[in-house]
Amino acid sequence: MKPFLKWAGGKYRIVEAIRRRLPPGRRLVEPFAGSAAVFLNTDYTEYLLSDINPDLIHVYRTLQLHGDHFIDYCKMLFTPENNTPERYYALREEFNTTQDGWRKAALFVYLNRHGYNGLCRYNASGQFNVPFGRYKRPYFPEIEMRYFARKAQRATFICGDFRDVMRATQPGDVVYCDPPYVPLSATANFTDYAAGGFGVKDQEDLSRLAQELSERGVPVLISNHATEFTNAAYAMADVEYLEVRRFISCDGDNRGTAPEVLALFGVRSDDASKYTRWICK
Ligand SMILES: C[S@@+](CC[C@H](N)C(=O)[O-])C[C@H]1O[C@@H](n2cnc3c(N)ncnc32)[C@H](O)[C@@H]1O
Repeated sequence: MKPFLKWAGGKYRIVEAIRRRLPPGRRLVEPFAGSAAVFLNTDYTEYLLSDINPDLIHVYRTLQLHGDHFIDYCKMLFTPENNTPERYYALREEFNTTQDGWRKAALFVYLNRHGYNGLCRYNASGQFNVPFGRYKRPYFPEIEMRYFARKAQRATFICGDFRDVMRATQPGDVVYCDPPYVPLSATANFTDYAAGGFGVKDQEDLSRLAQELSERGVPVLISNHATEFTNAAYAMADVEYLEVRRFISCDGDNRGTAPEVLALFGVRSDDASKYTRWICK
């Protein structure tokens, strides 16, 4: 099932490869939930979904609690009259100022489908500032929202930093981490780049915590770009490079796409035959 939100770095397109690598367990913990593609396409007894973005977690909780009622309300915002720059900017302003949590959650779904490229971006004072997307007929993800609402009955949603969520895990948990990507050009000692505020210290904390958790019986799977930096950061893990043909570009002539790495801490996998192992030099 596709996520109902468009999300930068969404993992729907490689969810099958992720699912094959995830070990069994009672509860799946996702400290970087985003659009929750992995939650939607796996079958654990329980889920803990967390993200640093409070608007995202608020929508998930509203959908979990109010289901069909909330979906029907969101649908009313998807009209031709609301698909103009004037209405978009008025509703964006309302999103940024309203104190009404229910309305704010519905507006987040509207903005995600009417804004440019489904981006979620805020200015320095925390105001959502994505421009109008100019789509002919924005899709209302009704089926996807209904599916999410049902499955959310097995989930707990929290808003917070990945370090706190990871430290609170226990044996029986399996952790899937999908952090903001390291930059493609990142070498083993990159220092000055922080995509979306997520810098080298965060990436290092993540791989260190993954190792710590695996040592106390909690396996951790991390996905990221395959770069010199991630090769070094995931040296302790069982690392596999996804063979995604259209993404392979070792020669630098075709930089639009990128290789991905799946690093599994805590479980040695002998079955690497499903993947092609290769290094981009
Ligand atoms: C690559 S996206 C995850 C995509 C997700 N797997 C999907 O399929 O849509 C990374 C997510 O990490 C979140 N994030 C960024 N910094 C974080 C932090 N310090 N702690 C927790 N989440 C963070 C972002 O809000 C974003 O949703």
